Amino acid sequence: MVTGGCGFIGSNFIRYLIGNSDFSGRIINVDKLTYAGNPENLTDIARSFPGRYIFQKIDICDAVKLEKAFLEYDIDAVCHFAAESHVDRSIKDPGSFIQTNIVGTFNLLEIAKSRGDEFQLFHHVSTDEVYGSLGAEGLFREDTPYRPNSPYSASKAASDHLVRAYLQTFGMPATISNCSNNYGPYQFPEKLIPLVILNALEGKPIPVYGDGKNVRDWLYVEDHCRAIWTIMNNGNTGETYNVGGNAEIENIVIVQMICDILDEISPATSGKSRRELISFVKDRPGHDRRYAIDFTKLKSELNWSPQESFHSGLRKTINWYLKQKKWVENIKTGDYQAWMKEQYGS
Ligand code: NAD
Ligand code: DAU
Repeated sequence: MVTGGCGFIGSNFIRYLIGNSDFSGRIINVDKLTYAGNPENLTDIARSFPGRYIFQKIDICDAVKLEKAFLEYDIDAVCHFAAESHVDRSIKDPGSFIQTNIVGTFNLLEIAKSRGDEFQLFHHVSTDEVYGSLGAEGLFREDTPYRPNSPYSASKAASDHLVRAYLQTFGMPATISNCSNNYGPYQFPEKLIPLVILNALEGKPIPVYGDGKNVRDWLYVEDHCRAIWTIMNNGNTGETYNVGGNAEIENIVIVQMICDILDEISPATSGKSRRELISFVKDRPGHDRRYAIDFTKLKSELNWSPQESFHSGLRKTINWYLKQKKWVENIKTGDYQAWMKEQYGS
């Protein structure tokens, strides 16, 4: 079972897995289809693998429907992505974060536990945001104390702790990964990189929070998918693994890079540089200053390293959004417009 498989990383993971020769099984994708869940992300997979890819529209907070799916499909492993994932939304309306990220994870753990020895692995996909914020120096390690700062990261921290508790108390076979910022195809354009790409293409202001010097450690989504699959196959039960991209970059630098790449490959009809659209706006409350991951454990124990450089990954991503005109147009007809108006006023 993959939960949240119609979202950004979940859909990339299903795509990665079903085309991977190491995997010959069946995937049951359980997704509530919130604003962030888009079945279009997997239309081709659903068409090409009708027996091996099955979609179930289920809210993980609905324990009855969830248990029915576990029994019907004889679920022996879960890769758990389903979550409310956007920090700004958790500041405006934290309730759904508490429900999905905490109660939903609890439901999954309870049902997996009730399967007894038939259940083989619960892989919990989590975030580096549980560790809080770094100063100018240092990296997040697996033993860094948890200090979540937003309702989103607090709810993810709670879910990590639940997984750990089920592992220690009930012997749940579980692994956890805490990953840095992902980017790539199929990301909902509320997140920095696709938001900047689409605003720049439309000639709309590009909002940069605060002084633009906050740092994230960027990882191409396919590298994250490979890390998860490596951990699921070869990781030690009970262990946590940090996943990062070795690509610490200030937000403003990324925004400028996107503007420059677009000016090069798809110049504005006005002839103006996209950098003129950059607009410094009010900072995000509680905005974490810097994230950076030490992934030595994953590298030394499981031989994983990121393969995509930020420069090549960013170009691939921009080209993807330029080519996927229909996907982009369809996204814009949904919740996207309402969110952009509420958050940015346009
Ligand atoms: P996303 O918002 O793109 O997708 C979330 C998916 O979960 C959507 O398909 C949505 O419909 C589904 N979902 C939400 N609530 C649900 C519910 N109650 N029941 C069933 N399905 C539900 O998120 P994403 O960026 O793909 O992130 C996936 C996971 O990875 C999350 O757990 C997130 O915390 C974690 N993560 C994300 C990043 C990142 O940079 N995006 C980095 C590290 C970890
Ligand atoms: O670190 C992993 C986390 O990365 C994941 O757990 C989250 O699910 C994911 O959303 C992401 O969180 P961030 O808050 O870091 O991502 P976001 O794209 O929202 O913002 C990236 C940085 O860009 C952050 O410093 C805030 C800034 N930003 C963001 C937006 C949307 C802006 O300056 N302007 C914007 O309009």
